[in-house]
Amino acid sequence: MGRSLTDELRVQQDALLGWAAPRLREFVWRSTRDPWAVLVSEVMLQQTGVGRVIPKWDAFMEAFPSPRACAESSLGDVLRLWQGLGYPRRARNLHAAAGVIVREHGGVVPDSLESLLALPGVGAYTARAVLAFAYEYDVAVVDTNIARVLARLHGERLTPKRAQSAADELLAEGAAWLWNQAFMDLGATVCRPVPSCPECPWFEFCAWRGEGHDPAVGSAGVSVAQGRFEGSDRQARGRLIKALGEGTVRVSDVPRVMDRPRDVAERLVTALVNEGLAVLDPTTSTLRLP
Ligand code: ADE
Repeated sequence: MGRSLTDELRVQQDALLGWAAPRLREFVWRSTRDPWAVLVSEVMLQQTGVGRVIPKWDAFMEAFPSPRACAESSLGDVLRLWQGLGYPRRARNLHAAAGVIVREHGGVVPDSLESLLALPGVGAYTARAVLAFAYEYDVAVVDTNIARVLARLHGERLTPKRAQSAADELLAEGAAWLWNQAFMDLGATVCRPVPSCPECPWFEFCAWRGEGHDPAVGSAGVSVAQGRFEGSDRQARGRLIKALGEGTVRVSDVPRVMDRPRDVAERLVTALVNEGLAVLDPTTSTLRLP
């Protein structure tokens, strides 16, 4: 007699949970169920590695322990604290999300997918991460690590819809918090871009097994390597925001602060002002944080 589909699923689930039990990585944000703390960690982790997030998350939670504390602070204060994490639009969105949470949800991070998705900067992944990691609802998340594992398990590039439904089908109901963290850790430590298949608890369930073309390449949600930082617009923007964190900057000094030619500096300043990440005082031709 063969195993039924539900038995098969249970064996696969137990294989991951058994693998993770002694290995689950410890992170400060994994020891809280405070939805604001979870939201902050997930926004930081969207584009920044855990090593750089750990100290920033601590500092952020101390400065802005609640959505209200964040909403009542200036965006400039949030940007100053964000320094070093990069992608400062995330800080602007988080500050705006805190405002919505205070105005529309009584200061409590909402616990419905719809309300979470309506927050600035919160997409399918982050919304589900809050539901699974703060509220412990039975929700499957697809981050870049999980997306890579799913494509390999299925042996084909997945659409966003297929990746989400593949994750939904695997979810160990009643254990969503642990399930999603374990799944993420499998991708982060074993099913890496260059995988260690012999160590994998899911080897027997995997369609790919490390042979031939990697189905994760180009599959939904699998990140592509970030471009070079040195010489990038991101680097130049970061330099100006850092300088603004220490005081105002004259527009005429921006090329020097950014270490870029005047035309590039002008283009980047215009974008930063349009994005609300810097404020121009036209009478003095100086820039400051919002
Ligand atoms: N990356 C995104 N979310 C994470 C989490 N909860 N733990 C570790 N890495 C993550």
